[in-house]
Amino acid sequence: MHILIPAAGMGKRMGAAQNKLRLSVLGQPLLAWTLQAVAAVPAIEWIGIIGQPEDFPVWQTLITDLAIPQPILLIEGGDTRQASVYNGLRALPTHASHVLIHDGARCLATPALIERCVQALETYDGFVAAIPVKDTIKIVDAAGVVSQTPDRSTLWAAQTPQGFRVDYLLNGHATAVEQGWEVTDDAALFERLGHPVHIVMGEDTNLKITTPSDLPLAERILQHRWEHGLG
Ligand code: CTP
Ligand code: MG
Repeated sequence: MHILIPAAGMGKRMGAAQNKLRLSVLGQPLLAWTLQAVAAVPAIEWIGIIGQPEDFPVWQTLITDLAIPQPILLIEGGDTRQASVYNGLRALPTHASHVLIHDGARCLATPALIERCVQALETYDGFVAAIPVKDTIKIVDAAGVVSQTPDRSTLWAAQTPQGFRVDYLLNGHATAVEQGWEVTDDAALFERLGHPVHIVMGEDTNLKITTPSDLPLAERILQHRWEHGLG
């Protein structure tokens, strides 16, 4: 299985002077944790890291230091996550029929989840890891007034990994460029084309490290796993 890791963001909400994926989490760059979880899954045969060229020397050193067994390609990202993933898809080896996409910022996803996602692509042409939402979600209008409360039992919070048939997803990205569709995940493109997107049960701890308070939280979770022999 081939996997693409979008890592080309700026981390604006983190407010650091550099890409948040370079920040230290328990002594190593955040992206190292993501890479190690992915590389620990034997079914993963190839890894594409989509990054900004200014970070490439850092990622190259990391790959060497971690001695990742799979071949890794560094791919130049774009201005949006969507553009970055499209670049990644076009850099896939031509024989890749299905692909997993996993955000570099989700450094707490476990190898067990990634393994489950690999298996999902044996059955489905499109899936998203997701968990049932715990909060009641409100739809709010421009004036700041609640307009609707959707039935919580139908609501899921989307995570990554997501996985797709490569030709369908490439078509989705090409159509998005033509039609000016802007989406925040790849599943949304699949949905617009009318392809089913199935759910794979995600993980409560599979946070997307986004704001400064997420960093100590991630460290606590990783530390806890290590202390309990789960890491
Ligand atoms: N990403 C990317 N290319 C972009 C923007 C985002 O590859 N142009 C990646 C990020 O590096 C991250 C993932 O997509 O691993 C999810 O995006 P997000 O958490 O929003 O990260 P950033 O865009 O870096 O953060 P922010 O939105 O706060 O700037
Ligand atoms: Mg972003």
